[in-house]
Amino acid sequence: MIPIAKPSVGEDEALAAATVIRSGMLASGEEVTQFENEFSSFTGSNHAIATSSGTTALHAALLAAGITTGDEVIIPAFTFIATATSISMCNATPVIADVENTFYCLDPESLLEQITPKTRAIIPVHLFGQPCDMNAIRQISDDHNLVLIEDCAQAHGARYHGNSVGTFGKSGCFSFYPTKNMTTGEGGMITTHDDALAEHVRQLINHGQESKYSHTMIGYNYRLTNIGAAIGRVQLQKLPEFNRMRQENAAFYQKHITRNGILCPPLRPGCEHVFHQYAIRVLPECDLSRDRLIQALTRAGIGTAIHYPTPVHHQPVYMGMIKGSNAPVSTRLASEILSIPVWPGLSTEELSYICQIINEAA
Ligand SMILES: Cc1ncc(COP(=O)(O)O)c(C=O)c1O
Repeated sequence: MIPIAKPSVGEDEALAAATVIRSGMLASGEEVTQFENEFSSFTGSNHAIATSSGTTALHAALLAAGITTGDEVIIPAFTFIATATSISMCNATPVIADVENTFYCLDPESLLEQITPKTRAIIPVHLFGQPCDMNAIRQISDDHNLVLIEDCAQAHGARYHGNSVGTFGKSGCFSFYPTKNMTTGEGGMITTHDDALAEHVRQLINHGQESKYSHTMIGYNYRLTNIGAAIGRVQLQKLPEFNRMRQENAAFYQKHITRNGILCPPLRPGCEHVFHQYAIRVLPECDLSRDRLIQALTRAGIGTAIHYPTPVHHQPVYMGMIKGSNAPVSTRLASEILSIPVWPGLSTEELSYICQIINEAA
């Protein structure tokens, strides 16, 4: 069986976690501080603040940006649900924009159409590891005085014209869930250049504590543990190699998937895509339906997944409640997209086998 995702963790991570456990210092402490320093150097942001997940990173980043009741925040329809729910957690309103037909990321034109006097922020999502059109999106956020928060949950190490994602706006939010390009078990990180925002976030994720047992705001326990940070420090060292292997796997697919009607993901010029997912598209002109292709791959012992079968505005939790575009591109993508394995460590034989099944399945 070739699984759709496989976390690359081993003895190095086990040793790092065991060292923390033996030290007895399990909660947030020195390992977390070291991890934050290393992550801020890696991204080139002035600050990095570790959190308990990507969702809590988004929630804290939105709260620290002052997003509250009555505010509208524009997001792409084609993303994981947490991009939207973190806004709802602030009692603000997620507003849907569509994505680009070519790169599957927030479409700047659709974004512009959704701006109202209530719009306060934009969350572009670097979906599947492909950077968004940050020049256009940043221009729009500057022109309309909107807070820009990047959802980098799927894009550790991705670069837009040489700069790391998570450095273009007010803040960037990363996830370290086990299937991501690097993991801490569960965990997240907020990057920012803004000193005041960093301080505010630190307080928000630690019970609103300003100094020992003095609480000056409603806060949360969104801290990362030392155990998670120790694993994350090892993973961060390995991340460039992990990403290189994902890129090599993607290049292999690009070359060897030759079936008519199957579209491999295009690369945005000037960017470094880090292939959190390798999402092919099964177009209407393909002689095999997506369902039939999934069946063939499953029979062959190859894991697949649909990221995502339901755009945010069609999710039961938001049905009929969410504002914005009806997002026809996102709706179409949801019916055509199919993720195939791209994790580091896939062998050439496995990659060839996957291509063979995709090219020849009847
Ligand atoms: C685009 C996106 N945003 C946010 C999240 C939330 O991250 P976490 O699962 O760490 O809470 C994820 C995680 O899957 C994601 O893919």
